[in-house]
Amino acid sequence: MTDRGNFGSKIGIVLATAGSAVGLGNVWRFPFMVGQNGGAAFIIVYVGCILLLGIPGMVSEFIVGRHSQANAARAYASFSNSKAWGLVGILGVLTSTIILGFYAVVAGWCMQYLGASVLGQLKGDSTFVLHYFQRFSTDPVKPAVLGVAFILLTHFVIVRGVKDGIERVSKLLMPLLFILLLIIVGASCSLPGAGKGVEFLLKPDFSKLSSQVFLEALGQAFFSLSLGTACLCTYASYFSRHTHLLQAAGQIALVDLLIAVLSGLMIFPAAFSVGVLPDSGPSLIFITLPNVFQQAFAFMPMLGYVISIMFYALLVFAALTSTISMHEIGTAFFSEEFGMRRSHAAWILTIVCGLIAVFCSLSIGQADLQLFGKSLMDFCDFVTAQVMLPLGALLTSILVGWCASKVVVRNEFTNHETASSKSFFGFYMFCVRFIVPVCILLILMHQFGVI
Ligand code: TRP
Repeated sequence: MTDRGNFGSKIGIVLATAGSAVGLGNVWRFPFMVGQNGGAAFIIVYVGCILLLGIPGMVSEFIVGRHSQANAARAYASFSNSKAWGLVGILGVLTSTIILGFYAVVAGWCMQYLGASVLGQLKGDSTFVLHYFQRFSTDPVKPAVLGVAFILLTHFVIVRGVKDGIERVSKLLMPLLFILLLIIVGASCSLPGAGKGVEFLLKPDFSKLSSQVFLEALGQAFFSLSLGTACLCTYASYFSRHTHLLQAAGQIALVDLLIAVLSGLMIFPAAFSVGVLPDSGPSLIFITLPNVFQQAFAFMPMLGYVISIMFYALLVFAALTSTISMHEIGTAFFSEEFGMRRSHAAWILTIVCGLIAVFCSLSIGQADLQLFGKSLMDFCDFVTAQVMLPLGALLTSILVGWCASKVVVRNEFTNHETASSKSFFGFYMFCVRFIVPVCILLILMHQFGVI
């Protein structure tokens, strides 16, 4: 078996795992969900989901991974002493491979927009920007090539290993991302009329709350924390024996939330200042925003130009640290389970995900690439985020809460009674045994129309 490698430092652990969590989910998905679901009211529900389900879910995956110090499939099998549970790890490998396929397509769009911003090609009125997006995303060649290029970029980080590849890139990109974000938030919030955007984000309108909003918040929390695909389990297998799992989960969830809220503070004040309602859904950052930046900074076009470049660079960085984590799950699996060299294992993943990306990208312009009435791209998004991901998280909580030895779970949680988080163990177990599975079952039943 290959030498597994480990993260080299505490800060490396937090930054790499936060890098996985912070991604397009925060900068792209979170703002449009907030926009569609009542602003601050959504955020309050979202924070509740993170505390009661997200953090316990993260800790559970950490426990399985850190205890077993192996790839996802072996970790689940050895933690439960049963080969059958290894299938949950394999499900995780499968889910993350599919997610990487379509996620890379959107990441490729971000690269295109970064290039277009640099070349100043996004200038024009809102119809121009709309047509630009439609023309580009339905083009058969360019977006597919960019999606594959993004996977290759990920590949070259992965082959350098855990410490020299993943940890190093995260330590560089995460602080950079944070600085870019703060600069754009500052510029956006200082625009005239920006106050309305801030108010929308921070003043709750509870009349918008419904069970649908709750489900959306829960799904978003899982996706944003990279839960349910054995991603956290794989990263935790590189944690040190001294890492306080609850503390790490809390820190990562906090960073994730902070970046999501700051992303809102970057987008809404600018949008409101030019009178654009931020409820346009997934196309928000590709259709609404380029125009918003132009109009908002019309008094100083150079600033608009720089902000637009910074924004798409930020998206690319956020996406890259996340695609790295998705790629690592499969790479670790193939290299350890089949005794392959890490670079060969990485190529398998790169090729499979590259093919998924090409077909997903083509499915946007081609009506015949459909499954169950959805384009392949939407179908992959749906099956992973709404079915496979909750299923993975549900099975993990059943394993840790009900099937595994409580002593082992406690020892991992408390680092053999040395961690200060000992007193939270009872509450953690309660969440993992009852709250997490019940809530996920509710989501799944809702998904399939049972309730
Ligand atoms: N959490 C990332 C985001 O917010 C996406 C992500 C990375 C992910 N790894 C994952 C989602 C594993 C689900 C599972 O964009």
